[in-house]
Amino acid sequence: MNTQDTIQVRELPVFPLRNTLLFPFMVGPFSAGRRASIAAIEAALASEDKLLLVVAQRDAGVEEPRGDDLFTLGTKAVIKRMARSEETIEVILQGVERVRITEVTQTRGHLRAHVEPAPVVLEPGAEAEALQREVVSLAGRFQALAQTVTRIDVDELARQVQDPMQLVYLLASVIGLDLEKAQRLLETSEQIPAMKLLHEHMRREYQILELRKEIAGQAETAMGREQREYLLRQQLRAIKEELGEQDPEGAEATGVRRRFEEAELPAEVRREAERELSRLESIPAASPEHQVIRTRLDLILELPWGRHTDDNLDLGRARRILDEDHYDLTEIKERILEQLAVLKLNPEAKAPILCFVGPPGVGKTSLGQSIARALGRKFERFSLGGMHDEAELRGHRRTYVGAMPGRIIQALRRVESSNPLLMLDEVDKLGRDFRGDPASALLEILDPAQNYQFRDNYLDLPFDLSKVFFITTANAMDTIPGPLLDRMEILRLSGYSDEEKLEIAKRYLLERQRTQAGLSEAQFTIPDEIIAKVIRRYTREAGVRELERMLGRLARKLALQVAEGQGDVPSITPDRLPDLLGSERFQPEEARKELPPGVATGLAWTATGGDVLYVEAIQRPDGDKLTLTGQLGEVMRESAQAAQSYILSQTQRLGIESPKPGLHIHVPAGAIPKDGPSAGATMATAVASLYTRRAVRSDTAMTGEITLTGLVLPVGGIKEKLLAARRAGLKRVILPKQNEKDLRDLPEPVRREMEVVLVDRVEDVLRAAMREPPAALAAA
Ligand SMILES: Nc1ncnc2c1ncn2[C@@H]1O[C@H](COP(=O)(O)OP(=O)(O)OP(=O)(O)O)[C@@H](O)[C@H]1O
Ligand SMILES: [Mg+2]
Repeated sequence: MNTQDTIQVRELPVFPLRNTLLFPFMVGPFSAGRRASIAAIEAALASEDKLLLVVAQRDAGVEEPRGDDLFTLGTKAVIKRMARSEETIEVILQGVERVRITEVTQTRGHLRAHVEPAPVVLEPGAEAEALQREVVSLAGRFQALAQTVTRIDVDELARQVQDPMQLVYLLASVIGLDLEKAQRLLETSEQIPAMKLLHEHMRREYQILELRKEIAGQAETAMGREQREYLLRQQLRAIKEELGEQDPEGAEATGVRRRFEEAELPAEVRREAERELSRLESIPAASPEHQVIRTRLDLILELPWGRHTDDNLDLGRARRILDEDHYDLTEIKERILEQLAVLKLNPEAKAPILCFVGPPGVGKTSLGQSIARALGRKFERFSLGGMHDEAELRGHRRTYVGAMPGRIIQALRRVESSNPLLMLDEVDKLGRDFRGDPASALLEILDPAQNYQFRDNYLDLPFDLSKVFFITTANAMDTIPGPLLDRMEILRLSGYSDEEKLEIAKRYLLERQRTQAGLSEAQFTIPDEIIAKVIRRYTREAGVRELERMLGRLARKLALQVAEGQGDVPSITPDRLPDLLGSERFQPEEARKELPPGVATGLAWTATGGDVLYVEAIQRPDGDKLTLTGQLGEVMRESAQAAQSYILSQTQRLGIESPKPGLHIHVPAGAIPKDGPSAGATMATAVASLYTRRAVRSDTAMTGEITLTGLVLPVGGIKEKLLAARRAGLKRVILPKQNEKDLRDLPEPVRREMEVVLVDRVEDVLRAAMREPPAALAAA
């Protein structure tokens, strides 16, 4: 063992943060947009343990930080989840431990740091105990005063935490310290000083809250004073006018007033604007209050009160536009056309709230744009991903320094129309914390019974959202809050097969990339076999985003050759691809050729498409425990237990002699967290195969939830799962009978090539999966 190992120096990719940090033990969403940050995350994702270093920048303004720009104390963190969007990567990180940076280097487009663990020195004893009680009680009062929607039960937490620092960091996250304070807390390396520091910050935040309450209470009395001042100012103005003196504030206010006279505003809005205008006239321009009023008046002026675009309800034209922009997606297009028909018959009809669910790059966003185009409505979008402050949606109260309207009102101001198509991306990645639950604000925004008078905290006037056509998007449904899910109509977009991708490329992507690169049709034709190769060897995705990027790269390479005047552009042949796009990125994945007893092939559905996975079971001579490994989630662990219990209840039928309960079940490809009930059938098969010593067919994969009584229940993601099976060269798939309806959505070649066995019971699965099923089963 060398010295490096003993002090556990590690080299990690660095994800520098601006204005924020991540404490150890805490989990939080982060968004990486800078190239070096994205490269660092990619590097971490490619590593086995998915670890990286998160550390705050000393100066948030530095675009490309180097070693010196970072604090030396940071947090080693693990990537729990990840989602890509056009220009950013969103990650959910969990802080693992506090580390000190010893050296920073730069490689492959990102920073890497040598770090060593720097655990906080714990100082158990009476003082620590007393401090802990004090902060816990303060936290309770703080939450009560802040009137947060989602309360954290601090007492309960204090009992549960293993490490007292966990509680310290949690409370620090709850009160939301600014970076300077948070970093100081992170840098405090002993427990008691850290607790004292936390206590001090909490006291301060608590006092601020108290003060704010008080001020709100005084607002009414202040009103009286303001009015008196107003009268005095009016008199002053009259005197000045008499004297013929300039009055710049008055001139400005008159300008705003004139704009208001020309604007078309609902009566209530006009009354409020009137009030604000007279306040504006009464307050000196130098006062900060003046600017606040002025900004709000501008917002009122710019909002599209009642201004809207007229819908184009020509169904034929709409159908043409939808087809023009997107391949297939028939069901969704039909649903949209239905909606247009409804609007045509009843213009007052409430628009449904649609939710497009599907893997990245399958066209959710672009379909939204296309619908807006077909309807002739304005289009606007923003992402809900990682949003955990209700005020981001609904705005801050104006008493807040730096208050702003929420994202909804901002979007309406941008589109200048009160009936746009508003796309809210990533509903499945909404956050929540003590600052309020944005999901409940969203509920109100989407509810036709309430949203005709939506009240943004900043605007503080009702705005009618009922004519807005809302579409939300998500990669997966399981993390969408239930009440929201109820309110939306789910439309699924699934991943594409290689054949479908080829069609999409030929009909849509090539043309687009060709025009963007400024090439003529003659200069840019790509044979199908090349596209097919790009699909298989250069991309691995459910959608077509990467494919489009690759085709774009091809087009630009050719454009360069044309521009450099290299005469006739040589046509693209398969062996030129590595020159143009670099070496092949993916080898075709292949299913295992031979499975020993105890191994079965399953199919998983992930937010980015489908995957083949193996369930491996072996007998453990000792004990009677069921050991599960491979980063399995709670639900998956339970289905492993159910699988074992069921198989053990059927020993006679399956011809199992003296079974030993000690089992170890492992699902490799370990770093990917796996969850969900759909591996039940595969688990049962692996366990049965082990106990009966009968091997499972290696050309067959299976999916299905199972019950303790041996029923096989339907599961999601059938299309993605079948595409994954086919990609891996599997020929047969065992599916729950109740999933039969999903087979309709399969592309023709998949339906033709794959043999699908539909089953009701675990026994059917075993019979279809095993090379030589036990006699009792075969007879059944
Ligand atoms: N069926 C299709 N026909 C034509 N083009 C498509 C189709 N599906 C996707 N595309 C194209 O693929 C690209 C990526 O699609 P888009 O950005 O809409 O994905 P998305 O589903 O919103 O993904 P994410 O979940 O990452 O936001 C767009 O350029 C889109 O036009
Ligand atoms: Mg999108």
